[in-house]
Amino acid sequence: MQNPRWLRRAGDPRLEYGADYNPEQWPREVWDEDVRAMREAGVTIVSLGIFSWARLERSEGVYDFGWLDEAIDLLHANGIAVDLATATASPPPWLTTRHPEILPVDQHGNTIWPGGRQHWRPTSPIFRTYALRLVREIATRYGDHPAVVAWHVSNELGCHNVYDYSDDAAAAFRVWLRRRYASIDELNEAWGAAFWSQWYSDFEEILPPRQAATHPNPTQQLDFKRFSSDALKDYLRAERDLLREITPDVPVTTNFMVMGETKGMDYADWAAEVDFIANDHYRLPGEQTLDELSFSANLTGNLAGGRPWFLMEHSTSAVNWQPINLAKKPGELARDSLTHVAHGADAVCFFQWRQSRAGAEKYHSAMYPHAGTDSELFRDVVSLGSALRSLADVAGSPRTPAKAAILFDWTSWWAVEQDSHPTGKLRYRQEALDWYTAFLDLGVRADVIPAGAPLDGYDVVVAPILHVVPAPLAARLTAYVEAGGHLVTTYFSGIVDENDHVWLGGYPGSLRELLGLRVAEFGPLLEGDTAELDNGLTGTLWTDRIDVTGPDTVVLASYKTGDQAGRPAITRRAVGDGSASYVSTRLGPAGLAPVLGELLSQAGVTSELPAELRGQVELTLRGTTRFVINRTEEPVDITALGGADRTLTARGVAVLRA
Ligand code: GAL
Repeated sequence: MQNPRWLRRAGDPRLEYGADYNPEQWPREVWDEDVRAMREAGVTIVSLGIFSWARLERSEGVYDFGWLDEAIDLLHANGIAVDLATATASPPPWLTTRHPEILPVDQHGNTIWPGGRQHWRPTSPIFRTYALRLVREIATRYGDHPAVVAWHVSNELGCHNVYDYSDDAAAAFRVWLRRRYASIDELNEAWGAAFWSQWYSDFEEILPPRQAATHPNPTQQLDFKRFSSDALKDYLRAERDLLREITPDVPVTTNFMVMGETKGMDYADWAAEVDFIANDHYRLPGEQTLDELSFSANLTGNLAGGRPWFLMEHSTSAVNWQPINLAKKPGELARDSLTHVAHGADAVCFFQWRQSRAGAEKYHSAMYPHAGTDSELFRDVVSLGSALRSLADVAGSPRTPAKAAILFDWTSWWAVEQDSHPTGKLRYRQEALDWYTAFLDLGVRADVIPAGAPLDGYDVVVAPILHVVPAPLAARLTAYVEAGGHLVTTYFSGIVDENDHVWLGGYPGSLRELLGLRVAEFGPLLEGDTAELDNGLTGTLWTDRIDVTGPDTVVLASYKTGDQAGRPAITRRAVGDGSASYVSTRLGPAGLAPVLGELLSQAGVTSELPAELRGQVELTLRGTTRFVINRTEEPVDITALGGADRTLTARGVAVLRA
């Protein structure tokens, strides 16, 4: 279980407010204006030193801490706390010149050269030696500084370097495999190595799944994903353990990336390794931008076990790394921040404090923009600071669990999107997000929870494309339904075990009995093709050739067109007071909403919103505080919610007290 330590600091609880601060990019005289403007904005904390290895260790063992001493003292004198980075995120040129063997290697054997950032192998013993030496210096020097309230390990571990195919990675992969499998024959069985003459006679013959002549072994690929997540976790632990040894009372975190398609790190598995959860989130363009933000914040809050978490980075306005980088519209800065708070964040921080003049991120927004403080953006930053101060009493209150949950499973995400499947078009997170949008459209709260989380508090559990279902997970889901829970799962769920071996006897092998159906053949659809259902809905992407296998299974909708015409499309098996439903095609949020709505009413899960507000606003609860987030671009009348606010502005958030 996660160690629930929060920032080391005295004083009243408050929501923290701040940013990454990179004073090393600016002349000393700018710093005074920085702290002045931070105070004006109500900044309480900054993350310092994230990319400053090259400025702290000028050459091997030659340190220059003077500027950092001065920056920390200046911040402290101005009442601003420091989340101090271990500065190991990006190795300096002197190190990569001396030790080019720390550079990662891609699948094709190409070296990832310096010039960007994070060009280090997670498994390099040499990198680790140098990095931990720096961590020791920093921890020893600053651990007692009263400004330092937390350690920030590296930065976004795995953002660019999660998959490394180097010889170091190969060696570490073999060690990892020896731990996972008692013998080489056990590995051969697990990897299905009888196929294509892949039978190994020794662990030393094993390589990472480097560029191969054709589809690499799927279990090798899946194990390499597990290993790669573990390798970075192991690195995180190495820094953390050293920090804990030197400064046992300073909590340690690292910034996760629970966002979009970033999927290399199994954060459900990482969550217990840090003293508090921190996340970075950047909005992604598209119709579900806001829902995706909420989904990420929700999942982050559940990774934190409902406890407060730290929004370490988001953007005040545009980013620099999309093809076209749009500025935020009026209201979006505050709405985005408060949506994270609504899902349990007790800190709202940005990348970064002062917008850079040089470097790849000079057009990335910041709290202090190129235009200076006489700008709408800075005025928005100041007003958000004051809004957060007025919410100080929310700090520490856990997010209130919902009655419904969506299971989220990194292993299934990895496995589903591997090659050689009935269709290459499956998108795991998108399907989960579609269900989340359907919940929001119905005005029903749902928690996004790791697949290993307890289910007993939930009346309804959705398991979208839960592809990898080892026997114990199938048993848990069955027990959940037998205890009266209502489970709904989708196409391509329950198909394989932990080794990516198909459960035999008809799909979805591990859930077949629970669902009371049998699929003899998959029916993926071509892009642009659809399958009409007899309830008026339209499926895309996938269909199944379903036979219902028992009298308890009811066909809720059948296919009207296409290869499965006349066969079941959506089914439900009643199990005591519970039920197990199956949706065999992709319906998208609008199609899922009526299906979900009917299930929720069967399960007795109701919206906490008045009918006219459902879909218009998102409601979240932290204890007795209600957050009401406008999901539309229009003002919404929220009189019915009984707070002091009558109108929620376009893109606005109302915080209603008991
Ligand atoms: C994050 C990173 C920051 C900055 C930001 C820009 O991935 O941690 O250093 O690069 O993105 O959006």
